[in-house]
Amino acid sequence: MTTHDTDARVRVRRYSGLARINHWVVAISFVLLMLSGAALFYPTFFGLTALFGGGQMTRWLHPWIGVALSVSFLGLFLRFFWANLPEFTDFVWVARIRHVLSGHEEYLPEIGKYNAGQKFVFWSQFVLVSVMLVTGIGLWDQGLAFIDQTFGFVPTIDQRRWAALLHACAAIVAVTILIIHVYAAIWVRGTMSAMLSGVVSGGWAWRHHRKWLRKEVGRRISPAE
Ligand code: HEM
Repeated sequence: MTTHDTDARVRVRRYSGLARINHWVVAISFVLLMLSGAALFYPTFFGLTALFGGGQMTRWLHPWIGVALSVSFLGLFLRFFWANLPEFTDFVWVARIRHVLSGHEEYLPEIGKYNAGQKFVFWSQFVLVSVMLVTGIGLWDQGLAFIDQTFGFVPTIDQRRWAALLHACAAIVAVTILIIHVYAAIWVRGTMSAMLSGVVSGGWAWRHHRKWLRKEVGRRISPAE
């Protein structure tokens, strides 16, 4: 927690520089996958291949960006795992969702680093990225060679058709959740600065994540102070 002589507002550190770089690598690769994936998914969006240097280049790049997303998401997963474990207050938060939506947070219990909505984003994207990785490997020439060498079998045409269906369904759900995630980050004023500058205002922390704030204050102020 920091205060400055010239600026008395309290600021609370929420993310390190590395955590923010990790998050934005995930976000950028996700957006690139969304654009290249849409181009490969439906002819109407084929024009998007121009962004990636044409159809063949898009087909070549898409799986590699998928690998980049999976690796960077794993970093985010390991970093934020502990703060996203479910607790009793998550059920109360969900049960009182109408107070969340109407901005009456005084009716909610004190929230830790993440609320139940944020935890939902975390766990659902973990499942969806995993599904897209596994099914994507089954749809990729290099991926098939990898499966053959590692597990000693090649998926059948039928299995690859199921993989294609699952891959597209998971992508549609993941994009929907991303839209909710971005909307929430903009809607709850002061949240974007957490991921842009790494710090939030004391007021933001007190209003939305009071249990987390209390813990941060306890951690940084020694009993002697
Ligand atoms: C593309 C635009 C994106 C924007 C504007 C954005 C914005 C943000 C912001 C502002 C936070 C901080 C929230 C807080 O500390 O309370 C955050 C956290 C987070 N973001 Fe994003 N994000 C984007 C994309 C993504 C993507 C693509 C993923 C994963 C697939 C993702 C996963 C996460 C996770 C896991 C957290 C930590 C909170 C949690 O565990 O739920 N974000 N994001």
